[in-house]
Amino acid sequence: MLERNAVLEVVALLLIQGEKVLVAQRPKKDRLAYKWEFPGGKIEKGESPEDALIREIQEELGVSIRVLSHFKTIEHLEPPVPLRLYAYFAQLQGGNPVPQEQQNIQWIPFNELLSLDFAPADIPLAQYLVSYLNTV
Ligand code: C5P
Repeated sequence: MLERNAVLEVVALLLIQGEKVLVAQRPKKDRLAYKWEFPGGKIEKGESPEDALIREIQEELGVSIRVLSHFKTIEHLEPPVPLRLYAYFAQLQGGNPVPQEQQNIQWIPFNELLSLDFAPADIPLAQYLVSYLNTV
């Protein structure tokens, strides 16, 4: 159980191939059902954000990744679940992502990213990412 005012620490994957980025849609049974997000999840006690990301992506998408660099940390501190989202660029170590938890995934072109119905913390992250991609 979360303590009052506790902030959930979460990691998110920014995986880019060509002009596309990988996004996942939360399944029906989950909080924020059908919202899109960058794949990831909760950091467990004692885990580094990088290790949490590697674990979450293996669990959710059945692939191993190499974490490249931290991009942004988004603080979404509103109830019901205040969270801090650490987003990292990474690359695949081999294989292709395959949903392991009934979520939909898609590789979406950069110029369509902001049309998705994102989970709240992922909205500013998507905006920062598009701005960044326009400069590189
Ligand atoms: O996927 P999981 O349930 O472990 O995620 C923990 C929390 O982090 C959820 O509340 C989820 O909505 C949030 N999250 C998010 N954006 C992401 C990944 C997770 O808001 N990219």
